[in-house]
Parts: sequence; C-alpha cells; structure tokens
Amino acid sequence: MLLAGIIPCVAALFVIVTAYESRAVALRTAEIQNQCTILCNQLNNYQYLQDPSSEVINVSLYQLTNIYSGRVMVIDENLKVVKDTYSLDEGKTDVSENVIRCMRGETPSFYDRENNYIEVTSPIMEPGGNRVIGVMLASVSTDVIEDSIDILYTQGSVIIGIALLLLGVCSVFAADRVVRPLHRITGAIENVNEGYTDDVLHVDTFTETRQMSEAFNKMLGRLKILDESREEFVSNVSHELKTPMTSMKVLADSLLEQDGVPEEMYKEFLGDIAKEIDRENQIITDLLSLVKMDKTGQNINITSVNINDLLEQILKRLKPIAEKKNVEMVMESFRPVTAEIDETKFSLAVSNLVENAIKYNHDDGWVHVSLNADHKYFYIKVEDSGIGIPEKDQAHIFERFYRVDKSHSREIGGTGLGLAIARNAVIVHRGSIRVYSKEGEGTTFTVRIPLIYVAAQEG
Ligand SMILES: Nc1ncnc2c1ncn2[C@@H]1O[C@H](COP(=O)(O)OP(=O)(O)O)[C@@H](O)[C@H]1O
Ligand SMILES: [Mg+2]
Repeated sequence: MLLAGIIPCVAALFVIVTAYESRAVALRTAEIQNQCTILCNQLNNYQYLQDPSSEVINVSLYQLTNIYSGRVMVIDENLKVVKDTYSLDEGKTDVSENVIRCMRGETPSFYDRENNYIEVTSPIMEPGGNRVIGVMLASVSTDVIEDSIDILYTQGSVIIGIALLLLGVCSVFAADRVVRPLHRITGAIENVNEGYTDDVLHVDTFTETRQMSEAFNKMLGRLKILDESREEFVSNVSHELKTPMTSMKVLADSLLEQDGVPEEMYKEFLGDIAKEIDRENQIITDLLSLVKMDKTGQNINITSVNINDLLEQILKRLKPIAEKKNVEMVMESFRPVTAEIDETKFSLAVSNLVENAIKYNHDDGWVHVSLNADHKYFYIKVEDSGIGIPEKDQAHIFERFYRVDKSHSREIGGTGLGLAIARNAVIVHRGSIRVYSKEGEGTTFTVRIPLIYVAAQEG
C-alpha cells in the first residue's frame, strides 16, 4: 500500500522539478539575451569591432561575465574573435554552428544540461542598416538553477518521506480501528462455540458492524430458544416416560410386600401393569414418529398417491374405535385427487386428526371428513361434534405433550404428541394446518397441501 503511495508522489515531484527547470532556463536565457542585445547596440556606438579597447564596453562585458559567472566573446564579420573575457580565444576564428546561424540573422540559444551552461548568441547589426556585422556569444553557468533543483529534490523527498510516514501511521490506526470491532465479533462467536451464550454483542463502531452484531444477537436469541425448547422437550420426554414406570413400580411393590395375595388380585394388578406397558410403548412409538418427522425433508419418500383411496383406508382402519362410541363417520370427496406426498407421514397426520375427532367426541356423535382440490392444493377438513377446544388452548394444542385437560385426557388415553406429529407431517409437505373450535360444540381441523411436492430450499 505504501509503495502505491510512493510512486505517484515521486512522479509528481519529478514533473514539478522538470517544469521548474525548463522555466528557470527559459527565464535565464531571456535575461541574458536581453543583456546581450543592449550591449550589442552599445558596441556599435563605440566602433568596438574595429577597436576593442573601449573601457566602457569592456567594463560592461566583464560585469556581465561576473554577474552570471560566464564567458562573453565578441566575434566580427570574418568570424574572428575580437574579445574574449577569458582571453583564451582572442584572435582565433570561431566557426561554431550557433555563431554561423547568428550571422545569418537568427538568434540561436542552447542549454547544455550535462555541463550546466546556457549559450546565447546575439547579432551585432550595422548601424542604421540590416546587415549583421558581428556576433556576441555569451555562455553562462546554470549552477544556480542546478542548486535550486537539488534543493527542490531534497525538500521534496523529505516532504514525501514525512507524508508516507504519516500515511503509514494513519493506515495502521485505521486498520486497527476497522479490525478491532471485527475481533470483538469473532471473539463473541468463539465464546458461543465454547458454550457461553449469555453475552449480548454491541459493536456499534460502524453501521456494518452494528448490523453484524444485531444479526449475531438475533442468531444467539434463536439458538437460546432452540436450546431451551430442546431442554424442555428432554425433560418432558423423561417425565412422560417415567409416569408409567412409577405406576408399574407401585403395582409391583404392593404385590411383593404382601404375603398370600389372592390370585384375582395378582391378575388385576398384572393387568394394570400390562396397560402401563402399552402406554409406555405408545409414547415411545409417537416419539419415534415425531423425531422422524424432521423438517429438513431429508428422509422423505415422495410418491404419487390417490388421496381419495388413502382417506377411505384410514377411516376404515379407525372404524372400530368409532363404533365403540357409536360415532358416525362420513367421508365426502368433491373430486378425485392425486398428489405427490410421503404416504406414511401424511397418513399419520390424518389418522391423528380423525382419531382425535373420535376420542374427543360425545357418544353418538359424528365425524365428517371432506376432500377438495384446486389447481395447486388439495384440502382436507376433519369436522366433529365433540367437546371442542377452549379458545385459550387453541394456540398450544400443536405443542409437544400439550393436552387441554390432563385428568380427562388421561382417562381417554393419549400422549399429547398426536397433533405435534400431524403438524410436522404437514410442514414436511410445505402445507398448513389450522384449527377452528368452539367449546362444547365441536372442532374443525383444515389441512392444505400442495399437489406437487416442493423440496425445501437449501439454506
Ligand atoms: N378434535 C378435538 N376436539 C377436542 N379437543 C381436541 C381435539 N383434538 C385435539 N384436542 C385436544 O388437543 C390435545 C392434544 O392433542 P394430541 O396432540 O392429539 O394429543 P392426545 O390426543 O394424545 O392427547 C388433546 O389432549 C385434546 O385436549
Ligand atoms: Mg391425539
């Protein structure tokens, strides 16, 4: 990241320095050029080309040389060096390109970056005419510019260095600020993995982390509810399984504690023990059905089933129980229905509803089962003329082990798991189940299930 910061900084510095350099050279060139032009005009006044001994001019020439730490040469028409402030080339002939171009009327100048000097030429014009009669050649050092450039580079590098340092420090702080709340969230998740689920997370540093911690808290809440309901389920199961055990233990003990118990009493008590065993068995069977009804639909076995036939079979199987109470069972089909269902699970749901309608009915009552369908769903209605369910209990009857009237229900028999099983079986089919009831008048359960099975979505 720092490297990405360095490159543009250095590039910017380079561009700035280059721009400065060309501007400084241009300014300096123009300045010298000016000085030379002024001097050239003065040369004519003193006939300098013919006699280079004029003090006035020579002082000016040496001044120029000193101020700009350079060298000035005056060359006449024949390219002969008339004056050289270094006194090296006087009397010699100068045929350098710039001098010749200047003779032709141009004013070439040139910057030698390597050796740090600028060369400027200026034509000496014939007084009152247009003819070039000589050339003034000035080369001045650009050391001052070089020094400035060096200073620029040094200062620029220092500034860039400081900026990068600040940038580095800032990014470390910023990264820390971003990472710290994430660390807290990770820590909280790890705590949950270790089994501590009591700490609520508040990481409000950023909107994102606040949303994350809210989502986390929701998840945690859900986890807690699951955990609690699992604990409650286990304790309910244990309790339900223990009740028949306790009865059996009491019955067995009372037989064992007495001597010479009459045979009839043995028979009676053993009969009671057998009943308790049946009950224990029923609870275990129901529990296993419930556990198999897992909502993921992984072990679901879907086939195309004729629902009309299936309902007839279920009613036929339950007929003996209905006859015991002289309950009349009527089945009504509005149309033939074939649907994709898990036959075992679906039968269990309907059996439980019809069995309840018979069990919680009055003697000589009736149970009415109807089947209908539209293009998407089929509907089953189980109506009875029974005792009904009080309004306050209606929301709970689908809970595991929930029974409206414990004492009354106990003598009717049942585990409190039937409706939980029925509801799970319906949910596995992505259907819905509802109850309508009025105490003392009767109860109606309605079930709606899609004709075509839709698998549960992953995740
Ligand atoms: N058709 C019904 N009429 C009246 N009460 C019902 C009916 N169906 C269910 N209930 C009430 O709902 C409770 C739960 O039903 P269920 O889960 O099948 O358990 P169980 O039948 O084993 O008691 C029953 O104990 C009963 O009080
Ligand atoms: Mg039941």
